Amino acid sequence: MVTSPESSLIEPIRSAELESLFAGLPVAAFFATQLIHDAPLSAEEAGFIEDAVPGRKAEFATGRACARAAIAALGRSAPTIPVGEGRQPLWPEGITAAITHTRREGREFVAATAAWNDSGRLGVGIDAEVIQPLKDGVRDMLLVAEEIEMVEDLPADERDEGAIRVFSAKEAFFKAQYALTASWVGFGDMRLSGLDGSGELLETGALPALIVIERPILFRQVARDGLVISGVAVRRGPAP
Ligand SMILES: CC(C)(COP(=O)(O)OP(=O)(O)OC[C@H]1O[C@@H](n2cnc3c(N)ncnc32)[C@H](O)[C@@H]1OP(=O)(O)O)[C@@H](O)C(=O)NCCC(=O)NCCS
Repeated sequence: MVTSPESSLIEPIRSAELESLFAGLPVAAFFATQLIHDAPLSAEEAGFIEDAVPGRKAEFATGRACARAAIAALGRSAPTIPVGEGRQPLWPEGITAAITHTRREGREFVAATAAWNDSGRLGVGIDAEVIQPLKDGVRDMLLVAEEIEMVEDLPADERDEGAIRVFSAKEAFFKAQYALTASWVGFGDMRLSGLDGSGELLETGALPALIVIERPILFRQVARDGLVISGVAVRRGPAP
């Protein structure tokens, strides 16, 4: 491990609220509200991030500190979490997990969730986004027509949050499905059934990569402290 001489006083915190985003699945979830600049990285992990700016290094290290804490809470350890070809973290055998970080105006939020995955059939995703207005062009890229309609039906002061709910659930889903399919899914490929904190992610058209995933694909989210945080778990169905 590459450690700094001074040890950090900041530790990831376990969160029952984040764990509840996974609807009864026994996950462990941890978060940090400050970057843990001296969070230890393995030499392998440090190699993946050596050319990054200090803020990105700290974000990467804090995400791994949260993930290691979550994996430790399941009774396992993850001395190194390498980076895969799709930028995805590579988890220890028998574990699936996900990391998110977000930052705006000096506020940090980093979190990770982990679950047992003995069968290799489970993928989990977590995503946190700051509630802020999306430019029209960006909104139209991230939301499909039905979602834009749902957002426009909300009272004016809830529309920014509504659009961010869509964005966040889709990114959580992307991470969860990637663990099983290693495939790209675009923002236009899926839509949310609703904007009130839980529901289903539905395909907008047939996407062969997702055939292996069981339906329904459920999401849950919380909105608090200016953030939307989403959780999605997906399972690979039995082979046809
Ligand atoms: C990969 C992606 C979802 C990450 O989300 P983000 O909001 O940019 O960033 P977050 O801070 O929430 O998450 C970053 C973490 O995601 C993880 N991640 C990156 N690529 C990943 C992948 N292919 N699969 C799973 N996790 C991935 C990493 O842990 C990364 O943190 P790290 O580099 O410090 O380890 C996003 O960059 C992306 O490519 N989105 C487009 C695809 C998409 O979301 N489609 C919608 C489908 S409905």
